[in-house]
Amino acid sequence: METSSISRRALVLGTGAVTAWAASPARALLAAADRAGASPAIEALLARMTVAEKAGQLTLNAATWASGAANALNPVTAGASFEVQLAEVRDGHLTGVFNGHGADMAQRMQTVAMRESRLKIPLIFAADVIHGFRTVFPVPLAEAGSFDPGLAESTARAAAVEASAAGIDWTFAPMVDIARDQRWGRGVEGAGEDVLLGRMMAAARVRGFQGTRGLAADDAVMACAKHFAAYGAAEAGLDYNSVDVSERTLRDVYFPPFQAAFAAGALSTMASFNEISGVPATANPWLLDTVLRKEWGFGGLVVSDYTGDEELIAHGFAADAREATRLAFMAGVDMSMQSNFYRDHLPALVASGAVPMARLDQAVRRVLHVKQALGLFDDPFRRIDPTRERTRVQTKAHQALARDAGRRSIVLLKNDGDLLPLPRAGKRIALIGPFAQGQEDLVGPWTVYGSDAEAVDLLTGVRAVVADAGMVTATAGSGVEQEIPGGIDAAVAAARAADVVVLAIGEGQSMSGEAQSRAAIVIPAPQLALAAAVAATGKPIVVALRNGRALEVSGAVLDAPAILVTWFLGSQSGPAIADILFGLAAPSARLPVSFPFATGQEPYHYAHKSTGRPNPAGPPRDFKARYRETLNAARFAFGHGLTYGRIAYSDLQLGTAKLAWDGDLAVRATITNSGTCAADEVVQLYVHDVAASITRPVRELKAFRRVHVAPGARVEVVFTLRRSDLLFVGTALKPTVEPGAFRLWIAPSAEAEGVSGTFELVAA
Ligand code: BGC
Repeated sequence: METSSISRRALVLGTGAVTAWAASPARALLAAADRAGASPAIEALLARMTVAEKAGQLTLNAATWASGAANALNPVTAGASFEVQLAEVRDGHLTGVFNGHGADMAQRMQTVAMRESRLKIPLIFAADVIHGFRTVFPVPLAEAGSFDPGLAESTARAAAVEASAAGIDWTFAPMVDIARDQRWGRGVEGAGEDVLLGRMMAAARVRGFQGTRGLAADDAVMACAKHFAAYGAAEAGLDYNSVDVSERTLRDVYFPPFQAAFAAGALSTMASFNEISGVPATANPWLLDTVLRKEWGFGGLVVSDYTGDEELIAHGFAADAREATRLAFMAGVDMSMQSNFYRDHLPALVASGAVPMARLDQAVRRVLHVKQALGLFDDPFRRIDPTRERTRVQTKAHQALARDAGRRSIVLLKNDGDLLPLPRAGKRIALIGPFAQGQEDLVGPWTVYGSDAEAVDLLTGVRAVVADAGMVTATAGSGVEQEIPGGIDAAVAAARAADVVVLAIGEGQSMSGEAQSRAAIVIPAPQLALAAAVAATGKPIVVALRNGRALEVSGAVLDAPAILVTWFLGSQSGPAIADILFGLAAPSARLPVSFPFATGQEPYHYAHKSTGRPNPAGPPRDFKARYRETLNAARFAFGHGLTYGRIAYSDLQLGTAKLAWDGDLAVRATITNSGTCAADEVVQLYVHDVAASITRPVRELKAFRRVHVAPGARVEVVFTLRRSDLLFVGTALKPTVEPGAFRLWIAPSAEAEGVSGTFELVAA
């Protein structure tokens, strides 16, 4: 293997670089380590490094190569040119770059590192590969709606195959923040509001990115579970805002997806921007050392989130740059992104004794271990190959996966009178709305490498599946947030001339994602006016919502007989939506977040606690937990999603009414499809601990299963519950479980009754 990869490199690089690398101290030392175990080689390399070189290994910056620039997603704070950056590599002052520009750039930079730097330590190339690379898959929130971790694993794998071919070793994903406030824009990057779904998706994505052949495989990228921790708990859903959360809630809600990601092998994590109860995560020794290292035994790498160390000053936690550096570094942030604080201040801090050399060595050791695990010491060019970069991306298989993932992420909220699926022939169809056609708002937020221009829009998707493309028109009617002069008139005329309207409305892709908090999670007013005018024509309307968060759905939109939630589905948006509209696939996804009646309910999530005066879903009553204006429930609940079959739940059977301490409880229900279309039903098991020493949520998802139910068929679903499924963080802040009564539901959503029963956990 090695011979062939070296000769392949020799072709691209010329023999000089290869010879220099083959003879480099790092290579020699780490080759020895292959036999003797990793540490001695890394220790020996460490012993040869200057303090400045060590600080360089802890300094990661955005790539500055201008050619073929990726989208600028962050504020650019470092002004270095590419030439300056190359000089930094030469001097050993940079560990790598992120969000770079493909194999050519990586090859140039790595060649300088391997030929011209003193110790020839390979660079690491990182990137935000959040939901695909050149092939863009549904945004993670959408994909969570599939309730299918296997799907998330497949798309993460495909993204890794594409990204690694372009020289990327490390992705800043998965984002595993539980997000319970829909005003927050970054919920779109994660798996939604639920802990179990969050854990399962986190682990699946890590497995997908890192692959099963070891991190050194040329198509593996290292995962980074982010943002550690509780970033999604930002007060008022305002991005970057303070978080004040109890240790119990951290352990019960926000930590588990990280633990799942680490258990699945994620070798890095990113400290979050927010403070936690007064101490910024980036300078939080309890979080980054006591919990992460000592309690969980995490042996990987902690990177700051962008200028998180620098931001300690604005937080009012550090007086100046030097103090910010010391606080972040001593708390446990090993690598600094973008601020250059470590490079600029660690040498003096070490010289003064304010930072012990042992801590510096520890952080550098972690970085070197990671580079070693990625196989970079064996072959620094293993992921850098311009040919693979062309042939491994946007393959037919990846495009097909994107289409399939898209279909499996679309949620059918309502379908009155079985308006859907639409017939493929014989109907005039008016696509109306800002998302009816055009190469915008397709791939969704946090897409660095894919582009709207390469994605397929709704009009193209629909025309490709109907019998007569001439029967389909597209009219914008409105911009996303602005009116179009005469737009509504044109849309009304188009609706009148059609038999059925597909109203493609919602949020633009810049309306969710980082720094895109919303004070009102509504469809923008010009689009609501458009919806009302089109509804007034009396034509049947299918709403196809585009969105990066749960929305408050009201008025003509809510009254439409059919509503699909289509999120941002990526490269194959149009075809995936068309498949569902015309019944080439049946909708099977479920809401991974609760859609509230009103923004004012936020943070609304199904697994809330009960007050002493609950008022569940009934009309508001005085002196009960209620809002004057609205029900205190979800408009569309977590877990909700219809299909084209007609599904009913019946026959709950519990294997026993008393679950023994070390026993099993088999829970069965029957799912019947009395419709004429086959269905994939996501059957959900919820429990409620009736009385405990720490109050428990009104319901918690404990298991789910996707079952295929043919028309007219009945399927029995069996779950097995054990005591370990009933754990919670108890009074001593440790996982605990208490004997007593539990309620249980097997249901189609978190707020549907389904079939329910009770059981008792019996003490040993
Ligand atoms: C985001 C991270 C991202 C980083 C690098 C930050 O602004 O919070 O999620 O990985 O930028 O692009």
